[in-house]
Amino acid sequence: MKERKPTSASDIKIYGRLLRYTKGSWLYFILSFIGYLMYGAMEPALAYLLQIVVDTLESPELENARANLAEDRTFIPLLILGIFFIRGVGTLLGGYSMAIIGNRLVFDIRVAMFNKLNLLPSSYFHKEPSGRLLSKLTFNTEQVIGSVTHAIRIILREGLTVIGLFAFMLYTNWRLSLFFLLIVPVIGFIVNYASKRFRKLSHRIQNAMGGVTDVASEAIKGHEVVKIFGGKQYEQSRFYEASKFNLRSQLKMELTKSLNVPIVQFIVAMAMAAIIWLALEPTISSNMTAGHFVAFIGAAGMLSKPMRQLTEVTSILQKGLAAAQSIFEFLDVPNEADTGKLKAQTLAGKIAFNNVSFAYSPESKQVLNNINLEVPAGKTLALVGRSGGGKSTIANLIPRFYDITQGSLTIDNHAITDYELDGLRSNIALVNQHIVIFNGSVRENIAYGGLQGATHEEVVFAAKAANAWSFIEKLPHGLDTVVGENGTLLSGGQRQRIAIARAILKNAPILILDEATSALDSESERAIQQALDSLMRDRTTIAIAHRLSTIEKADIIAVIEQGQIVERGTHVELLALNGVYSQLHQQQFRENS
Ligand SMILES: Nc1ncnc2c1ncn2[C@@H]1O[C@H](COP(=O)(O)OP(=O)(O)OP(=O)(O)O)[C@@H](O)[C@H]1O
Ligand SMILES: [Mg+2]
Repeated sequence: MKERKPTSASDIKIYGRLLRYTKGSWLYFILSFIGYLMYGAMEPALAYLLQIVVDTLESPELENARANLAEDRTFIPLLILGIFFIRGVGTLLGGYSMAIIGNRLVFDIRVAMFNKLNLLPSSYFHKEPSGRLLSKLTFNTEQVIGSVTHAIRIILREGLTVIGLFAFMLYTNWRLSLFFLLIVPVIGFIVNYASKRFRKLSHRIQNAMGGVTDVASEAIKGHEVVKIFGGKQYEQSRFYEASKFNLRSQLKMELTKSLNVPIVQFIVAMAMAAIIWLALEPTISSNMTAGHFVAFIGAAGMLSKPMRQLTEVTSILQKGLAAAQSIFEFLDVPNEADTGKLKAQTLAGKIAFNNVSFAYSPESKQVLNNINLEVPAGKTLALVGRSGGGKSTIANLIPRFYDITQGSLTIDNHAITDYELDGLRSNIALVNQHIVIFNGSVRENIAYGGLQGATHEEVVFAAKAANAWSFIEKLPHGLDTVVGENGTLLSGGQRQRIAIARAILKNAPILILDEATSALDSESERAIQQALDSLMRDRTTIAIAHRLSTIEKADIIAVIEQGQIVERGTHVELLALNGVYSQLHQQQFRENS
């Protein structure tokens, strides 16, 4: 996150953008305004009540006054009740309407953020720790509630109160009121200073919060590694540091806030003292009755609470704006490039790499160098080679998880960037090297996403083809067994077989299998291999495997080393070549015999 520039112009822009999200809530804005108007009008009414009471008591004809007051005995208490009733209704109306606006805003922003998540390029997920993203989705959006509801609530409620009270003061004695007005810039200056400090601090707190969730989410996901490799101490101290930083920032913020309040109050007290001092000067208060005087001082005193709250508004706003800014930065990350116009209904599946080079980021070194490969439609390409050579990278270029940096990559003689992204991907089935299982039933995992409409028979067929049916049958609820977050209730091989069933069910013309059977024993692998062989027969397949026995039948085998193709040919040709492939083959042959 970048440091926020403290320009009010950018703040206004951010606020404006937030307000645009509340466009649908204008009715609640009006209701809330009416509510707070009721509330704000009742404060001067209270001051006025004070005036009536004092003036009746103080009237020269004391006898009369007592008589008047006796008549008013029910009137004044009823007035008090009435005032507080209206005030209460106003608070309820204003507060609840505001809460509706704020919570709807958070809802809208969360949904927009989650939808954005699915449009981001893969590279974004490697850069940004997932804890940071989650904290944006939860913590930052909550802070925006603080900004929008809380701040607007204060501005409306306390702002209207200040206006009401000040109008009452002007009406009672305008000269004294104008003097009171002179104090306001001094208060403003102090508030401004404090708000600058808040801005810096609240930014640090957000970063600190992100750090806390990062460490925690890693420790949760990696709890096994943490235990075995004695990472407890390390993780604990990492979390301790992150939390400590958070604590320090939080306390600094509280200190500034706590200092802010008494200072502002003291300034108000000074103003009051000065006013009383002035008011005691006969020329200024000559035509004031005692009731006027008491009501005026009362109103001025009542001003201090709303004024103080108004001064806190900036800090609340700053907090919310800092959160909103980081949210908007996220929403503004460029989407995956999807400029292609070609609709890829059903591709034949001819894939050609021409001098393709690739680096994961402009700064990092090239991972692929001048790759030339052609896979005719319906044929099988196997990629083999040592770990880290670039096999998965080549496979990931085809569904455009990443875009090539040089050369050309075509499917059916069109650059893959010419296709609409969704259309291109609908033609590809993929079994990842890192199997992903969602927290749902086995059925939901096989018939995932676009496959949701699959019939029961189709799902069972796919599960059988993937050699998964035998274990699914034995699960407590069969296909409807819930498998836990990331499939924790399944073994590695079972997870792989579910992923394969998913790919089989998709029945797409291009199939990518990245170490799809690596977690299986040779018997299960052989059983699956038959299914895969028949699956591969009429579709273009990219198969990546360390176990060479699984790819011997491939039409083309390419050996990848350090981002380059060092050998290519069929199994027989490559063995005859007596190079890298035959070496790898001999090694595995020896290990297995
Ligand atoms: N997301 C990424 N960002 C940056 N570099 C990456 C990323 N993924 C892989 N690399 C780098 O690219 C190179 C090739 O990785 P790749 O995953 O393609 O290898 P591989 O041949 O599939 O290896 P394995 O057989 O172990 O799966 C490696 O040096 C790796 O460090
Ligand atoms: Mg790989």
